[in-house]
Formats: sequence, C-alpha cells, structure tokens
Amino acid sequence: MTILADALSIVAERIRRASRLTILTGAGVSAASGVPTFRGAHGLWRQFRAEDLATPAAFARDPRLVWEWYAWRREQIAACQPNPAHDVIARWSGSDKVAVVTQNVDDLHVRAGTRGLVRLHGSIWELLCADRCASGAARWRDDRVPPPELPPRCPHCGGLARPGVVWFGEPLGAHDVEAAVQATACDVFLTVGTSAVVYPAAGLMHQAKASGAFTAEINQEPTPASAIVDVAIQGGAEHILPALDDRLGQPRVPTPKPYPS
Ligand code: APR
Repeated sequence: MTILADALSIVAERIRRASRLTILTGAGVSAASGVPTFRGAHGLWRQFRAEDLATPAAFARDPRLVWEWYAWRREQIAACQPNPAHDVIARWSGSDKVAVVTQNVDDLHVRAGTRGLVRLHGSIWELLCADRCASGAARWRDDRVPPPELPPRCPHCGGLARPGVVWFGEPLGAHDVEAAVQATACDVFLTVGTSAVVYPAAGLMHQAKASGAFTAEINQEPTPASAIVDVAIQGGAEHILPALDDRLGQPRVPTPKPYPS
C-alpha cells in the first residue's frame, strides 16, 4: 500500500466507526470548480489581498472598490459548478451524524444540496443595509450578475448596501458560532481546503482535538494544521474526497446478495 492509500484507509475507518463526523471547509474545496482561493498562487485581485478589501474600514473608505471586487467574484462564481468534493460532502450530509461548517461564501455547498450547512462567513449572494436601517438589517438575496448598480443600494432606505458576508474585524453570527462549536463535539473532525490561518474558524480543529476527536486534513499543500492533525492528506479535495467515499462504500462485511425474485 502507498502512504496515500494507508492514510485514506485510516481516515475511512475512523469515519465508518464515528457517531459524529464534522467537516470544516475552506476555499480549496471550490478551487476545482474554478473559484479562486484567497491565499496562494492566485490569491490576489489587482494588487489587493482579501485582508485589504474585506474590512469595514475598506468599505467606509471606498465602497465602490470593495463592491467591484465582490462583483468580480460573483461573476466568477456564477459561472462555476459544484465539483466532486461538494458532491461527496452533500451526500454525506444526508446522514444525521454529519455536520458541515464552511468558511466559503460562494454557496456551492448549497447548490450541491448540502443539508444543515453552517455558513460561518455568510453568503456573497446576500446583501444587507450598510447603515443597518430598520428594514435592511436583515439580509436579502440578490444574485443578479452584474448588480444593476454599483455600489448597490438598500431598497428600504436608499443608503448603501453591503455584501452579506463577515469581514475581518467583525464578529461571526452568534447562531453560526454556536452551531460550529457544538459540532466540535465529534469523533472525527475533517478539515478540507482551508489554509487554517483565519480565526475563529481555524480554532475549531483545535477545539475538536482537545475534546478527543480524531482529526484529519485534506489540502493541496501543507498548512499550520498539518503538523497538528492525526492524519494530513495532501491532494485536491475533488480527488481525495471521492477516493475516501469509495473506501466507505466498501463494507468490511460483504452485503448479502438480494434474494433472487
Ligand atoms: N483541494 C484542496 N485544497 C486546495 C485545493 C484543492 N483543489 N486548491 C487549493 N487548496 C488549498 C490551498 O493550498 C490553501 O491552503 O486551499 C487553501 C485555501 O486557503 P485560503 O485561500 O486561505 O482560503 P480559506 O482558508 O477558506 O480562507 C479563510 O479567509 O479571506 C478570508 O473570508 C475569507 O473565508 C475566507 C477565509
């Protein structure tokens, strides 16, 4: 057996025996769909890093620039389809024992049919009033590409609308955090396609490990989490997750053949 085959077998066996499996995903899960990741080779838009644009201060300074970045990303995502990694996760999420937490705002997990998804960083397809006016404080969905006006306006008060995502320096939604923290009480915690540098999401793996979970990582390249997890598998999520799924599909005890009719 190769090292990869060994690692896949170990993780598959842990998943098979688990009463609760939690999967945390990041931008790498959508990379094979064509959605650029934030960090790594294609992580820049013009000369900006995500940390320069995804902040309340950047929006206050130049809302049009920030919206141009989001409009560009929305256009790219609209042309993308879920890939086999999303499909496997969606299928697994049909089981009550599986919880899925994502940092992704692209909604490709939603489009793949993932159930009970916790979207820690919101959705790029939702907007809210930047001034939090009484009616515009709740998010609304607007998936028009391109947006009819840039920057878009709040339909209630006419002020600026902002993307319904969590920016650097902003707190995550309390319900989402609660659900994500609860999900760290699991037997297996699988972190997939995240650089594991943005907190609090990156802290979930540590919390799961401290609670006794078996931890595994699937990522294209080593991350700060690689040295901490029990098993780190290097490779594309779109290949590794289907390979893991294949192994889960092979029951240790052969399934009895149906009685011939
Ligand atoms: N399969 C698995 N991993 C991959 C693949 C792939 N096909 N392609 C790239 N990766 C890995 C990269 O090596 C990188 O480690 O996915 C990771 C993506 O990391 P980031 O771009 O930092 O994305 P993420 O961890 O989700 O970022 C967290 O930062 O900018 C914010 O709010 C944004 O939610 C985002 C957060």
